[in-house]
Parts: sequence; C-alpha cells; structure tokens
Amino acid sequence: MVPASDAGGSIPFSEFVDRALYDPVAGFYATGGRAGGRGDFLTSPEVGPLFGAVISRALDEWWHELGDPDPFVLVEVGAGPGTLARSIRLAGPECAGVLLHVLVERAPGQRLLHEAHLAGWVGERSGEELQAFVLRGLVGTGPVFVSAPEPPESFDGIVFANELLDNLAFDIVRVRPGDDDGEGVVEALEVAIDEDGLCEFVVRALDRPGDTATRELAAKTDSGGTGSWFPLQAQAIGWIADMRSRIGDGRLVVIDYASTTKELAARPDFGWMRTFRGHERGSHPLDSPGSQDITVDVALDQIQMDVSANVVESQSDFLERFGIDELVDEGRRVWEANPHAPGLNEIRGRSRIREAEALLEGGGLGGFTVMQWIVAGKPDEADETGR
Ligand SMILES: C[S@@+](CC[C@H](N)C(=O)[O-])C[C@H]1O[C@@H](n2cnc3c(N)ncnc32)[C@H](O)[C@@H]1O
Repeated sequence: MVPASDAGGSIPFSEFVDRALYDPVAGFYATGGRAGGRGDFLTSPEVGPLFGAVISRALDEWWHELGDPDPFVLVEVGAGPGTLARSIRLAGPECAGVLLHVLVERAPGQRLLHEAHLAGWVGERSGEELQAFVLRGLVGTGPVFVSAPEPPESFDGIVFANELLDNLAFDIVRVRPGDDDGEGVVEALEVAIDEDGLCEFVVRALDRPGDTATRELAAKTDSGGTGSWFPLQAQAIGWIADMRSRIGDGRLVVIDYASTTKELAARPDFGWMRTFRGHERGSHPLDSPGSQDITVDVALDQIQMDVSANVVESQSDFLERFGIDELVDEGRRVWEANPHAPGLNEIRGRSRIREAEALLEGGGLGGFTVMQWIVAGKPDEADETGR
C-alpha cells in the first residue's frame, strides 16, 4: 500500500472490481468464470435440483397472492448459466403454464449457456421487444424462458436474485473520527495501475467535488466509529432501488451472505472480501485482474438504508417455510420404493437428503440471508384502479 501523495492517478476500487469481473474481453465472467460443479464456486441452485423445487413452491404461493396472473413474470437477475431455470422447469410448479421466466445475465458468455437442456427457451430479447414480451399472456403454453442482458422496464411479478449482490462492485472506505466538533475524514482505498499493469492500493482522502456522494454515504453508514476499513455498497443500494421501481405489483427477493457494516468493519484483514478461482480461495484481490472472482459480504443495513425489507430470515428458515422437509421425505419414499434397481427419479429422490443438508447448513448456505421487499401497486396506478 502506498500513501496517496506518492501515487499517480488511481481509480476507485469499485471501478477496478467492475472491470476485473465484467470487462467484456478480459473480465472473470468473460473468460469462462462461472458458478457450478465445473465452475469456480458452488451456489444453492448448483447444489442440485432441490433448491429450485422449493423456489417453485414459493413461486406458486406468490402467484396466488397476486391473483394468478397470466403471464406470471419471474425476472431472475444474475442467472449465471441458467441452472435455477432448469430446476424450476423440472419441478413443474402449478403456475408453469403461465410462467414467463426472464433470465437476466450481464455476461454474454453466460447467456449463451441458457439454451442447453431448457425446453421452452425462446432466445434472447432486450428493450422494447422484451417489454412487449412480459405483457403477453401465455394461456397455458408456458413455461417460457427468455434470456436478457437487462431486466424489463416495468412489470408485475417477482424479481429473484441469488448471490448477485455479493458480486456487484463496491468501494473500500474508512471514516476517521474528527476532533470534538469537526467532521470525520473519509478516505478510500483506491487502485493505482502502473505501465506494466501492476496494481497497488493507495489511500485517498475523498475531498474532491466528485467524491460527494461516496463521502456522504460513507459518513451516514454506521461502521462502529473505529476508523476501520469497510465495504461501501452503492451499486447494491442502487440496484435495489432500480428493481423496486420496475415492479408494479409483486416482490423483490434476494439471497446472499450478509451481515451489518459494523460487524464487517470489526473483522480483521478485510475479512469481508473473498476471491475464488476453480473452487479454491483465490489470491490477493489485485492479483492478475480477471483471473478470479471477487466477492463481498452484503451489508444488510446499507441495502435497507432507503427502504427496509418486509421479510428478513435465514435461508434455512425460508426453505423450511416452503416445505423443504416435505420434499426430502417425498424423495426418500421414492428411493425406498425401489432401491435395488434405481432409475433417475430414485437417484434424484435419494440425492435430496444430501442436497438439503448442504442447503440448510447453518455455517454455510443455510446461514445466508433471504430478504424480501413487497411492492404493492404504484401510487399513480392505485388511482386508476381505485385501490
Ligand atoms: C455469483 S454468480 C450467481 C449465479 C446464480 N445466481 C447462482 O446462484 O448460481 C453472479 C452472476 O450475476 C451476474 N451479474 C452481475 N451483475 C449483474 C447485473 N447487473 N445484471 C445481471 N447479471 C449480473 C454475473 O455475471 C454472474 O453470472
């Protein structure tokens, strides 16, 4: 780390992360990085089809709550290679005939993977074409799957994002306590890149006119007053606001590893930031940009700064509420009925036991946080419909 005064130009860490992950040519996700057994990290959809089977039950409940609309729009953001869509299709929820599942994925290489083994996939749409698509009824011809680089502008339905927020770019800041009546000084860890492409952290006081938004956000975040470095998640905050503004009636559901800024700031050695490559922990985040995933624990207080979530619970509580135990028992019965000459169904049935253990484990996926924001009718629509 070099002091700012010795450094030349530097870029915000968020810009570095965004390029390292999403540069269209050299970024981690452009060069083959992905979730999955054959990828770089394991997520709940990638554990096996059980996660999608539970989500299918939740979808049915949310569909009924909305009055059984056709189409029933599910916008999955950060869909990766499309594994959750395949599991939902396999589970065959009650809403399947009217289900329009939009797989929103920023990385073009990942979108190319959506088509495989996904009957009902109709290709890629964007802009007005996608917007028209989410308004057209399916009259029982679903489920229909469509890939998109961006979510539709406006729709009724569900936005679902598993492990997206931890993959959005973030800054690293600290607020040094001021004297008695002075304001604290906000500093950022930025990245200086030399002509050989070597990257180094530099400390910069956020005192330029262009720093105002970051400085104010850092100052109003409760990081515990210790002056420690913490992640500032302006992109995640903006994403939540953007998604809520696109939903007319419905809900935003996000699942991720999460904590509070105060707890994160108290961790030693930037313990809230991790890198991954080929199922192993990666190296220092500034090492060979694009070669590894860079992720951050999501700060619950920051992403609820504007609007509190209506439901916040652990992944294990969420999955239990939507009947994971029943699905495991059902799988066990299928297996036990024919254990000597098992077919695919029997094997899937037995595998649910192991999948549930992984999905519910308190120190792992089961300890992730599920957050839901319920969006019920925009005020201007309320006038027109009389609600
Ligand atoms: C950690 S992976 C999770 C993939 C999948 N949801 C899962 O749980 O296996 C995050 C994915 O989000 C994608 N992503 C990141 N920012 C995005 C954005 N703004 N819109 C859509 N996809 C995005 C990345 O390209 C990556 O495929």
